[in-house]
Amino acid sequence: MKKIIIAIDGLSSTGKSTLAKRLAKHLNYTYVDSGAMYRAVALYVLEKKLINGGELNTPKMIIELPNISIAFEHNMDINSFDVYLNDVKVSKAIRSMEVSNAVSIVAAIPQVRQQLVRLQQQMGAQKGIVMDGRDIGTVVFPNAELKLFMTASANIRAKRRYDELSTNSSSPSLQEVLDNINLRDELDSTRKDSPLLKSNDAIEFDNSQLSQEQQFEKIMELVNSCLQL
Ligand code: CDP
Repeated sequence: MKKIIIAIDGLSSTGKSTLAKRLAKHLNYTYVDSGAMYRAVALYVLEKKLINGGELNTPKMIIELPNISIAFEHNMDINSFDVYLNDVKVSKAIRSMEVSNAVSIVAAIPQVRQQLVRLQQQMGAQKGIVMDGRDIGTVVFPNAELKLFMTASANIRAKRRYDELSTNSSSPSLQEVLDNINLRDELDSTRKDSPLLKSNDAIEFDNSQLSQEQQFEKIMELVNSCLQL
């Protein structure tokens, strides 16, 4: 059976990972959350106190890069991957607001991107992969057979992310979540290296008004046509 690469890019909190996980499960493909890798680097930078009040000590971080190892391990219980930073499971820690506030600053550094893109390309070498992020269709897999670009209105995205995060009393407010996604979208879209861009051959989906089911069905039609080519 032919195997393809599915690249899913787009703004933050557009449901890329929910869609990617479902496609991967349905197709029996590997799912890779490239954002989790940038989040893990941001966590390392925070732990080492290399960022202060939004100011990143870039030279020191670049020196530290060879000491950062990121790995994914399949977790049968959640049918997903746990993320490890230097052999410590950080799947939960990388979702904190502190990490969300630092990640786009760290992700703008070319040396960080080079290291992670190399790893992502190795993971997709055998195809049969669904990867979501910001530069997957433009930089990581420019030859991906199917490229999707997800958008949705900022308020809807903030509400989705807020609902996801608001499971305990220390959860951020809706306004904090909205400010964070707006700031990240701005930083991700305007950085020099690999900005968030819709590739010319990507198919755009505004899912503000689409149910997950409707979206999945539409995208599976696209997947099936790619598989028949
Ligand atoms: O919160 P959300 O799921 O939307 O974002 P994420 O996929 O976890 O990515 C977190 C951050 O990592 C993004 O805001 C980008 O700054 C960075 N990122 C990137 O630069 N390139 C990627 N391929 C994936 C993520």
